[in-house]
Amino acid sequence: MRPFVFVNVAASLDGKISDESRKQLRISCKKDFERVDKLRAESDAIMVGIGTILVDNPSLTVKNPKLRELRIKKGKDKNPIRVVVDSKCRIPLNAKILDDEAKTIVAVSKQADKSKIEELREKNVEVVVFGEKKVDLKSLLNYLYKFGTRKLMVEGGGTLINSLVSEKLVDEIYIYYSISLIGGKESPTIVDGKSFIKPIKLKLISLEKFGDGILVKCKF
Ligand SMILES: NC(=O)c1ccc[n+]([C@@H]2O[C@H](COP(=O)([O-])OP(=O)(O)OC[C@H]3O[C@@H](n4cnc5c(N)ncnc54)[C@H](OP(=O)(O)O)[C@@H]3O)[C@@H](O)[C@H]2O)c1
Repeated sequence: MRPFVFVNVAASLDGKISDESRKQLRISCKKDFERVDKLRAESDAIMVGIGTILVDNPSLTVKNPKLRELRIKKGKDKNPIRVVVDSKCRIPLNAKILDDEAKTIVAVSKQADKSKIEELREKNVEVVVFGEKKVDLKSLLNYLYKFGTRKLMVEGGGTLINSLVSEKLVDEIYIYYSISLIGGKESPTIVDGKSFIKPIKLKLISLEKFGDGILVKCKF
């Protein structure tokens, strides 16, 4: 068993989610930030790859106090659980995602340094070990489901999205396209890594003009 999994990303019209510096770019508009905040508030957990943590250092919390209050009224924590996929346990000890705003789970593989795992555990961070080299995503999702996660939001990056899609672990994908071009063959895209054996056809749920861009929702 696994949670309902959806991916949400912001991209340029040429499908790039950053430029070749890989640093965080402001691709979304204000209205889209509000939509993403609401999606976070409605999720039980939010997942990102370590690549995103190392360059963007996001806190992945709900920003709107009203949305936090609503979660508390429903008997939930003010923020969803944050999950980092990090085989070698490279996460910096001062990463924002390790603050005490929410529970964080760092998923590592057997490759991870044991003393680093201990350091995280001493900071009350939950560390789970799944997989030999890369994190075994199926086992991780099964674990999250077992401990109550029914709705999982994946916020990138492209490498993690590729693995999840390849392993058929994604139900829906929402892409906010800003009306812009980023360019560059080294710039990360929505789905990086190796191309699929054949194109994966999705079913369109909706397509709308949204804020300053276009919002496309699809299911697998
Ligand atoms: N525009 C947006 O909406 C948005 C959102 C998020 C990120 N981004 C951008 O995306 C870029 C980062 O993306 P990224 O592709 O470099 O990194 P990523 O997808 O965030 O993280 C990938 C890393 O996760 C680890 N990992 C462990 N097990 C894995 C598995 N089974 N499958 C896949 N990955 C696994 C691997 O590192 P180890 O082998 O070390 O574990 C892998 O390199 C940045 O430029 C960031 O700004 C944009």
